[in-house]
Amino acid sequence: MTTVASPDVVHRIGQTPLVELTAFSTKKVKLYAKLEWHNPFGSVKDRAAYWMIKDAEKKGILKKDKSIIIEPTSGNTGIALTGIAAALGYKVEIVIPEKVSDETKNILRHLGATLHETSDDLCPRVGSGTDQSIALAKAISKPRPDIYYMPNQYENDANFMAHYESTGPEIWKQTDGKITHFLAGCGTGGTITGTATFLKEKNKNIKVIAIQAQRNHLLQGLRNFEESAMPDLFKRRVGVVDEWMTATNKDSFDAVRLLAEKESLFVGPSSGSAMTCMMKTAEKIDEGIVVAIFPDDARKFKSLYVKEGIFSEQEYDSNLKNAKHMSRLAYSLP
Ligand SMILES: Cc1ncc(COP(=O)(O)O)c(C=O)c1O
Repeated sequence: MTTVASPDVVHRIGQTPLVELTAFSTKKVKLYAKLEWHNPFGSVKDRAAYWMIKDAEKKGILKKDKSIIIEPTSGNTGIALTGIAAALGYKVEIVIPEKVSDETKNILRHLGATLHETSDDLCPRVGSGTDQSIALAKAISKPRPDIYYMPNQYENDANFMAHYESTGPEIWKQTDGKITHFLAGCGTGGTITGTATFLKEKNKNIKVIAIQAQRNHLLQGLRNFEESAMPDLFKRRVGVVDEWMTATNKDSFDAVRLLAEKESLFVGPSSGSAMTCMMKTAEKIDEGIVVAIFPDDARKFKSLYVKEGIFSEQEYDSNLKNAKHMSRLAYSLP
């Protein structure tokens, strides 16, 4: 059984809450998290997916009941594209690295996507992880431009615009223009470049901190730029970044636990990465309003957390039950 949301679901994208992490703020250094799992399909990627579909519709590229949207993605973009496309009347095929969590793959199938899985050794000439998926998605779609449309979040400026037009203005407004530091994890670079470009246009002194994952990481959605190529979308505006930080698996998972303990926030691995980097940033400054993007929550990561020994099954279940700021998804979890 697949679930299809009504076309109105797109009006629920954006306007996500910004919450203060009071257990970690001090009088002069305030820490805030932008809870992107409040988007209807559960992550920051709803924004990019919707903007890319809207852009293709405007350009007359998509035809209802004929076009197939194909996209290489490590999960969240696939979920967002599939959910939004189904609601608007398009089919979706997703090319995904096999190491992505089973929960993510099950959600994709449940929302109606056809999956093509890639392994890191599929083609040694291409990089690892999502680079393999990008190569396969291009190979499938290129010969059939009449049917296939590949939004290609790694190159598509609509991904940048999503954050320039929504995430950036929301954070500016939610902090009354007082934000001093902005942190975001990097996959395509759409979130960091779009949001930071808008914020720096408002106040060029805002410090922008980009987070990459360690090599060989378990932090779904993030990249390590020694291991995987920097996407063109990112390269175009990488100058907006003032500082780079690298999040390790261990520090990220420790922060996931800490957030569950101290704030009853039950987050995904990359929100843990954002948190550990936010704490390191806060230690270095005397005052400021520090904002980080929390891309998704823990609901897709039970198998990962239990396998890695981050939580026992019982701990996972009780954290989920007690979690604050959970959201209503536009689909039921399979
Ligand atoms: C789960 C998830 N998706 C996506 C992203 C990154 O988004 P972008 O592709 O805009 O760089 C992140 C970054 O932290 C993430 O954690």
